[in-house]
Amino acid sequence: MFKAVIRGIGSYVPDQVLTNADLEQMVDTSDEWIVSRTGIRERRIAPPDMATSDLGYFAAKEAIANAGLTPADIDMLIVATSTPDHQFPPVACLLQERLGCRTIPAYDLSATCIGFLSALETAEQFIQTGKLQHILIVGADTLSRITDYTDRTTCILFSDGAGAFVLSRDDSATPQAETGIRYTATHADGTYFPSLYVPAGGSRHPQPNDQAEKAKIVMEGRKIFRLAVTSMTEAAKQALHATRMSLDEIDWVIPHQANQRIIDAVAEHLEVPAEKMISTVADFGNNSAATIPLAMHTAIKEGRIKRGDTLMLLAFGGGLVWGCVVLTY
Ligand code: ACO
Repeated sequence: MFKAVIRGIGSYVPDQVLTNADLEQMVDTSDEWIVSRTGIRERRIAPPDMATSDLGYFAAKEAIANAGLTPADIDMLIVATSTPDHQFPPVACLLQERLGCRTIPAYDLSATCIGFLSALETAEQFIQTGKLQHILIVGADTLSRITDYTDRTTCILFSDGAGAFVLSRDDSATPQAETGIRYTATHADGTYFPSLYVPAGGSRHPQPNDQAEKAKIVMEGRKIFRLAVTSMTEAAKQALHATRMSLDEIDWVIPHQANQRIIDAVAEHLEVPAEKMISTVADFGNNSAATIPLAMHTAIKEGRIKRGDTLMLLAFGGGLVWGCVVLTY
């Protein structure tokens, strides 16, 4: 079996900033409430002429350059998104063409906020078997397009962005066990679907009819909060058990960036010091499949995460879905 290593990383957020002060003008809320209940101060929103493939394109381009490769080197392209440009074709096909990749396999994967972890888990299989050498994984979402800006319980949270990895086969003569992807596990429990979903815009209700069938995110916030904390805590404990690692061997935990209070509660349950938790939620809010690679890339650019560090990636999302990946960068 071959090892899969992260050879390159990239990310992209649009320039336009939506601040808490802006939201105060749109719904009955306050900067104080948003900061104290979520930790979010601002978020990035794509302009009307930008869609998910545009965000993904810039992140992907940077990841390929960071890997020291060209688009022609990529053997497969997986895009994790819940907000594709169109019902079809897949965003991955749009990126294949725009990046100038060969006619490689290219498809989207829909797993809400754990989509990037699911893409990583999928890509790793093709590398482990030796079938492929370089796989581009993109997590990109334009949640602003499915956010109800009259609903103060959701519109404060969501945003747009993209992140990308080039995952490559480790062809070194003596591959180390302690490199690259070391553990992946993802889970789903569809019984919780009504707690976080988009009622219309799919094949059940193609056109939004009324408020009960809107093509915007509907969420039971308090319930999702509880599920987020318990599922990510459990996923982390299972990962430590399966890998026989202790938390001391994990340099950084990168949780899905949904709410600072969720991140703090997971840290408390796991007894991880706050300084080991990577958080970018204050600046970027929740851009779903993009949060983990975006947070990781931000921490790399800040000089916090370095090559050789061991990371635990934790995520949960609408489905309900949750998962964990442990890797050495
Ligand atoms: N401004 C002011 N007041 C508000 C706002 C707001 N923006 N939103 C809600 N409130 C009010 C409520 O109406 C409620 O008032 P009431 O007591 O008079 O009824 C009060 O604040 C408390 O509401 P709660 O829902 O209990 O507030 P909570 O502390 O749980 O925070 C929040 C709400 C931020 C939504 C939180 O529950 C949360 O983050 N949940 C998880 C959400 C999440 O992570 N979703 C993403 C999943 S990932 C994906 O798939 C996209």
